[in-house]
Amino acid sequence: MALLDSLPDAVSVYEVSPRDGLQNEAAQVATHAKVRLIEALMDAGLRRIEIASFVSATWVPQMADADQVARLVPPSDGVRFSALCPNRRGLDRAQRAGVSEIAVFVSASETHNRKNVNKSIARTLKTFEGVIGPALDSGMTVRGYVSTMWGCPYEGEVDPQVGLQIARALLDQGCYQVSLGDTIGVGTPLQTRRILELFFREVPAHAVALHLHDTRGTALANVLVGLEMGVTTFDTSVGGLGGCPFAPGAAGNLATEDLVYALHGMGIDTGINLDRLWQAGQVASAIVGRDLPGKVHRAGIRALSR
Ligand code: HMG
Ligand code: MG
Repeated sequence: MALLDSLPDAVSVYEVSPRDGLQNEAAQVATHAKVRLIEALMDAGLRRIEIASFVSATWVPQMADADQVARLVPPSDGVRFSALCPNRRGLDRAQRAGVSEIAVFVSASETHNRKNVNKSIARTLKTFEGVIGPALDSGMTVRGYVSTMWGCPYEGEVDPQVGLQIARALLDQGCYQVSLGDTIGVGTPLQTRRILELFFREVPAHAVALHLHDTRGTALANVLVGLEMGVTTFDTSVGGLGGCPFAPGAAGNLATEDLVYALHGMGIDTGINLDRLWQAGQVASAIVGRDLPGKVHRAGIRALSR
């Protein structure tokens, strides 16, 4: 089979800039500015947006206003807001703030997991038993992340079998999808194929998303491998904003504009208006006070100027 022979008609974009994008910002971003960014993303047609994380404010000060952000974003038909949640306390906060989806997270490498949530992988999965079930019982949906799938900033290579076992545990507990994280953006295309081949022996493609940080410029190449193999959900951040505070050197996610530009160019539908998305990137840039690394964000959408 030739490369790009087998592409989907449509892709679901899961936008993470209000959470993954902003969590690494040292200067506190005003709550109303976060809400403005989320509204701009909604205007652009994004339908799945991770708006905040209900984690400890000591650990991630930028997310201290998650409750207010969740209360202030305007509910809209067809738009699903999600929030990161590490434990039962996070779930309680999410429920009180009216968020309908939570995302739980665990790393495929012990050291990153401990640095991130101060627990072993096994204890983290045990903690989620008290989170995922109650969330589902209250009518929420739950997504799961498996981080450091392509490599760990502390341990180097990571065995994808460990990630698969974690993913299976999360799906068994009731997550509807696991998003595989290249947390520090080290992945290359054949590695992506090997990881997905392993997963697809046991997990259906619709239950797998790719969450690729673009630290070394390989994210879009890895997306193409995913697309060809049947993945139809990709996590991105407008402008390429972001990074993980507990993964040194991690840059932002693949820029949403870069993904959408490439997908639309290949005739794949996203439901997103690229011009408005570019405007949302300008909002993101304005609220953090600097230019962002996304390629389309910097170059613009069209090559011809009139
Ligand atoms: P801990 O210190 O082991 O837990 O932290 P603790 O239970 O002893 O709590 C410590 C303090 O936090 C206490 O407050 C708790 O009340 C409070 P204190 O008594 O010191 O005043 N606390 C909370 N406060 C608000 N909301 C909560 C909550 N839980 C406890 N839910 C903990 C454990 C998990 C809380 C901590 O390690 C933490 O918050 N970690 C956050 C890590 C994080 O947000 N990392 C970045 C996101 S993950 C990521 O970016 C990767 C991803 O994008 C995928 C990829 O790229 O691969 C998802
Ligand atoms: Mg991330």
